[in-house]
Amino acid sequence: MYNLTDRNIVLGVTGSIAVYKAVDLASKLTQARAVLNTIMTPEASKFVAPITFQGVSGRRPYWDMWDANNDLAEAHIALARQAELLVIAPATATVIARLALGLAEEMVSLTALATRAPLIVCPALDSQMFEHPATQEHLDTLRSRGIQIVGPEEGRLASGQVGRGRLSEVDTIIGWIRHVLGKDGDLAGKKVVVTAGGTHEAIDPVRFVGNSSSGKMGFALAEAARDRGANVVLVSGPSALPDPVAVEIVRVRRAAEMRDAVIAGCADADILIMAAAVADYQPAETVRDKIKRRQSETLSIPLVPTPDILAEVGVRAGLIKVGFAAESQDLLENARQKIEAKHLDLIVANDITASDAGFATDNNRVVILDRGGRKEELPLMPKYDVAWHILDRIVSLLAGKKSQPEA
Ligand code: CTP
Repeated sequence: MYNLTDRNIVLGVTGSIAVYKAVDLASKLTQARAVLNTIMTPEASKFVAPITFQGVSGRRPYWDMWDANNDLAEAHIALARQAELLVIAPATATVIARLALGLAEEMVSLTALATRAPLIVCPALDSQMFEHPATQEHLDTLRSRGIQIVGPEEGRLASGQVGRGRLSEVDTIIGWIRHVLGKDGDLAGKKVVVTAGGTHEAIDPVRFVGNSSSGKMGFALAEAARDRGANVVLVSGPSALPDPVAVEIVRVRRAAEMRDAVIAGCADADILIMAAAVADYQPAETVRDKIKRRQSETLSIPLVPTPDILAEVGVRAGLIKVGFAAESQDLLENARQKIEAKHLDLIVANDITASDAGFATDNNRVVILDRGGRKEELPLMPKYDVAWHILDRIVSLLAGKKSQPEA
């Protein structure tokens, strides 16, 4: 959705066993409302019938250059002109060689030669073929032309061996597609620092003071900012989420480490979005050895405040500061106080008592408040969509324009 909506993407599919993942890719791109045309080599059509791609994308794939019934007269030229992006997944050693040498022998290499759209190549091949100097030299040639190579990954290969050659995961490929299509977005040239997750304040070597934040809201913000062209630094507390594509990630544990990473990142940043649920207190000291259980005694752990990161970043001309307020009571009143206390441009408030939104869920229901007292209430929606709305407001602030939500 959003930066994939109505975008004209051509998917080139070549003859590897990983073709089945390309079907999932085609399906997900179509669900995200891209206009997806599929082109296939004759070998690819032996692994998966072209009609499968027709089924998931609603469009007939092109795979036979000599088919007089093709609805486009010169399909490769027409598709090459329309394409905003050509992604070849899976890409075999053969097609990689054809691309490097400029050979145009079937629909995929023909279209690649004819298009001026950006190209993403996702190799899938046996590790011996991947490591061969011929393949490596061809991949270097493609990189030197600015072509984005994604993968291959380590793992179990069709041969039963473990090695580097697996097609990247579909979500990883989609991350790269979003990044490449977003390069000229409305945050191009801007540096955005985003924080995500909770923090773990160590009590002893195995225990900590923490919270159940999953990091999903912050990761969604980092990805959405990337998809609008920003250079993104994501400072994340402990989170099980994988590193997002094309985002610089700094993984930290404690509030003090998060503070250091945020202050370093903000030196030349345009935007700071503090989505992290930072612990407010940390143990006064971390005990060196694991604390033993003593049946008859109560245990007290003295806590001292953590650094208030947003407050420490301070106010700097040219830096837009956005905070979050996770509240269980007096949502708007508390959020308004935080805007003032932390010198924020915007605050995103959510009620953490709602069972369908907020901590560790995929959706969020938030209210965005600005310094002028304007309030924008958003309905329940996926966190990526919430992120997109927050960035809309930030883009308006950058442009010096006042957006017009309800007063
Ligand atoms: N925050 C921060 N440093 C902290 C605590 C919070 O920078 N040590 C940031 C959060 O990332 C969030 C905003 O401040 O963007 C508000 O966080 P919240 O926990 O709601 O507010 P607190 O200031 O901690 O106040 P309280 O917990 O009393 O509501």
